[in-house]
Amino acid sequence: MILVTGGAGFIGSNFILDWFRHSDEPVLNLDALTYAGNLENLASLEGNTSHVFVHGNIGDTDLLTRLLSSHRPRAVLHFAAESHVDRSIHGPDEFIQTNIVGTFRLLEAVRAYHGQLPENEKNDFRFLHVSTDEVYGSLEKDEPPFAETRRYEPNSPYSASKAASDHLVRAYHHTYGLPVLTTNCSNNYGPYHFPEKLIPLVIHNALAGKPLPIYGDGQQIRDWLYVGDHCAAIRRVLEAGSPGETYNVGGWNEMSNLDVVRTLCSLLDEFQPRGDARSHAEQIVFVADRPGHDRRYAIDARKLERELGWRPAETFASGIRKTVRWYLDHPDWVARVTSGAYREWTAKQYRA
Ligand code: NAD
Ligand code: TYD
Repeated sequence: MILVTGGAGFIGSNFILDWFRHSDEPVLNLDALTYAGNLENLASLEGNTSHVFVHGNIGDTDLLTRLLSSHRPRAVLHFAAESHVDRSIHGPDEFIQTNIVGTFRLLEAVRAYHGQLPENEKNDFRFLHVSTDEVYGSLEKDEPPFAETRRYEPNSPYSASKAASDHLVRAYHHTYGLPVLTTNCSNNYGPYHFPEKLIPLVIHNALAGKPLPIYGDGQQIRDWLYVGDHCAAIRRVLEAGSPGETYNVGGWNEMSNLDVVRTLCSLLDEFQPRGDARSHAEQIVFVADRPGHDRRYAIDARKLERELGWRPAETFASGIRKTVRWYLDHPDWVARVTSGAYREWTAKQYRA
């Protein structure tokens, strides 16, 4: 079996759903169910005994030790993190605790577990660390995209905490021989995305008749990747990546925030026109910029393609169309997340 941390979050839950579409290997899902953890994302797995959920924190060494020795996973896939840049600006503490201290405690528990495995299982074991392109900092307009050799220059408390965790993971390979893999991925979008992030927030606000807030001039660039492509990349790196290596994952799709929001508005105009027949784009408002806002991210994903044969299956046009459709088809999911009702469901369903 594999152990997934943070499997109730946006990417972790997409990963687990995708995993069971390709495999029947059991998944042990350890998640602290912070505000971003939502077990409703995994409701379709109810009754599937191959998915075992444990409500717990990656910083809880006793729990980790018990889980590792009783379930004996062949791999740990580490998604759990505080992930929202704006929250990290308002309150960095949780980011330090989970992303740095939590990853350290997880690595320590995994190191002890790995150390006592029989030789063949030891060699086959993998610790896959899911990280971000934000560790590289901000690109100028004419600079080439981030390759794996780019130096780390994180600019927000979020990216600094992820950079620290990447360094710890690297050190556990070099010092203790832990067979680690690290992926640094660009901005994801798709189903089950918590509506505090740009794309789900804009869809939700547009439909609710609310303003669509664009930070600063809206010319910041992100390299958007459909979440299903990220999940496929992680599966591929787990399967064939070389221990100690890092792999950049991206969609070859740089877009300004303003263009992303305009695209969302025109899709909504097509699928669900406003009552007054005017465009949702009229709801766009420019608001104060994010402090320290990185101007541009872009990923050079050629290593992953060359060495492991991965390429994104979705273009932005196909992925964003699917995504907008998904939100329109799942108004209950959105309503329950925005009202906080998903927490009651979790408590009832899982006594979490
Ligand atoms: P998310 O915020 O949606 O989910 C995080 C999950 O981790 C939640 O289920 C939460 O309950 C859980 N969690 C938080 N603290 C925990 C702790 N101490 N112990 C156990 N569980 C805990 O995040 P996401 O967008 O799904 O991101 C997942 C990973 O991918 C993160 O490591 C993030 O840095 C990385 N990443 C995200 C993106 C993106 O665009 N969202 C891009 C690249 C990399
Ligand atoms: P976000 O989804 O928070 O991801 P990240 O900060 O990790 O890239 O934001 C994506 C981009 O959209 C980023 O440049 C900030 C911008 N943004 C807005 O302009 N308005 C918003 O309301 C939000 C949430 C983000």
